[in-house]
Amino acid sequence: MYAGTRQPLTHPDRRVTPLALDVTDAAQIQAAADRMESLDVLVNNAGIALYDDLSDRATLERHLAVNLFGTYGVTQAFLPMLTRSHGVIVNNLSLMALAPVPLTPAYSISKAAAFNLTQSLRALLADRGVRVHAVLTGPTDTEMTRGLDIPKASPQSVAQAIFDAVDAGEEDIFPDPLSASMAGSWRNGAAKALERQNAALVAA
Ligand SMILES: NC(=O)c1ccc[n+]([C@@H]2O[C@H](COP(=O)([O-])OP(=O)(O)OC[C@H]3O[C@@H](n4cnc5c(N)ncnc54)[C@H](OP(=O)(O)O)[C@@H]3O)[C@@H](O)[C@H]2O)c1
Repeated sequence: MYAGTRQPLTHPDRRVTPLALDVTDAAQIQAAADRMESLDVLVNNAGIALYDDLSDRATLERHLAVNLFGTYGVTQAFLPMLTRSHGVIVNNLSLMALAPVPLTPAYSISKAAAFNLTQSLRALLADRGVRVHAVLTGPTDTEMTRGLDIPKASPQSVAQAIFDAVDAGEEDIFPDPLSASMAGSWRNGAAKALERQNAALVAA
């Protein structure tokens, strides 16, 4: 397992290989890809979330740089290895990809864009045997939600639910109680049907 982090990482499990990886740094992304011989599963998890009110363009650009272009850049760099392994991409997005929380609109926009990216990659990579999963995560008890006094799922339970859903072949993953309450209506809804209809255009 490779763990890409901005800060130096030491991990007690020697099967974990730390990699210096700022997902906004193209040279670091390429260096990380060059260090690996093979890759089965890519988890795009890096993200930033700042409160804003859309009055500052730079704040929106910061979110897009990490949450959209970071995911895009890492995916493109690692795609040759994932194509060889018929691998899996897991993009940790947010329920805010489906409906914005207007207290974090720039974050919501970046996650909606990353979800759309995920859906197109899913259609474009299907014939290479690469599966692409979207994780529509709800509130989880991490640094990102520190100070928010709302019900939150534990990071451990969310991580376990994500990998269980990948194993079960669920393309859109709802890994916590709040998001899980939306799973059925999303999977049977008009937007999902339209995604499938549009994806068929690639094969045609
Ligand atoms: N917590 C939630 O309620 C929740 C809900 C839905 C989705 N998510 C998503 O889950 C993912 C993980 O977030 P989290 O909840 O674990 O939040 P977190 O504790 O704030 O962790 C975010 C991680 O992303 C890293 N990161 C930020 N910018 C980066 C960059 N340019 N390059 C590389 N790494 C970068 C941070 O690294 P540093 O330590 O160096 O800052 C940090 O390790 C994010 O994509 C987030 O949007 C979280």
